[in-house]
Amino acid sequence: MGDMPEPAPEIGQATKADIDGILQLQDTNHLDRGGLLSVRFSREWLEARLSDLPVIVARRGGRIVGYPISTSLEAQASAAIVQAMLNAYAHSKDAYIYGPVCVAADERGQGLASALFSALLARVPNRECFTFIRGDNAASLRAHTKMGMRSVASLRSAMWITSSLPTALRA
Ligand SMILES: CC(C)(COP(=O)(O)OP(=O)(O)OC[C@H]1O[C@@H](n2cnc3c(N)ncnc32)[C@H](O)[C@@H]1OP(=O)(O)O)[C@@H](O)C(=O)NCCC(=O)NCCS
Repeated sequence: MGDMPEPAPEIGQATKADIDGILQLQDTNHLDRGGLLSVRFSREWLEARLSDLPVIVARRGGRIVGYPISTSLEAQASAAIVQAMLNAYAHSKDAYIYGPVCVAADERGQGLASALFSALLARVPNRECFTFIRGDNAASLRAHTKMGMRSVASLRSAMWITSSLPTALRA
């Protein structure tokens, strides 16, 4: 008998019990450890997000294997890069920031980022979300294009701002 395919991870809304796992995945994927995440969020900041917008996680066993952090504009506005994004893109009034998103290395390439994004959109329907992606992050650009996000502006020439809503639908 051949190996059974692994079932997909369970996707749901994060609770306080998931914060340790999010911190662990964030740490492994930070720029200073060779990853592609530029910002490191603290436990306190992440806990505060649980009462901001839905934080979606993918769990396998006791491990967090993926998450997109979604936030109100205010929650991230103090970061210089986010301020630059807000200045560069005329987003709709009720827009929020999607991301950063992270999927564990051993779970990539199987559509998990898209599945997490769909779970988020199901909970926050009909609102624009947007993010920035480094121009050298080919996997992320590809994953976000597959999710239906579209490039709407560029930032510091090597970053793309992507939005979930085509221009015509924006308020
Ligand atoms: C970006 C990221 C979230 C994508 O997650 P994922 O679950 O693998 O995404 P998906 O499976 O939905 O799609 C990935 C796509 O990128 C493609 N891809 C993967 N690595 C790639 C690479 N190095 N170059 C180009 N494309 C790549 C895959 O082939 C796939 O496309 P396909 O289905 O057409 O083949 C994940 O790679 C990640 O966590 N990276 C580290 C953190 C990060 O960069 N976060 C984003 C910050 S903006």
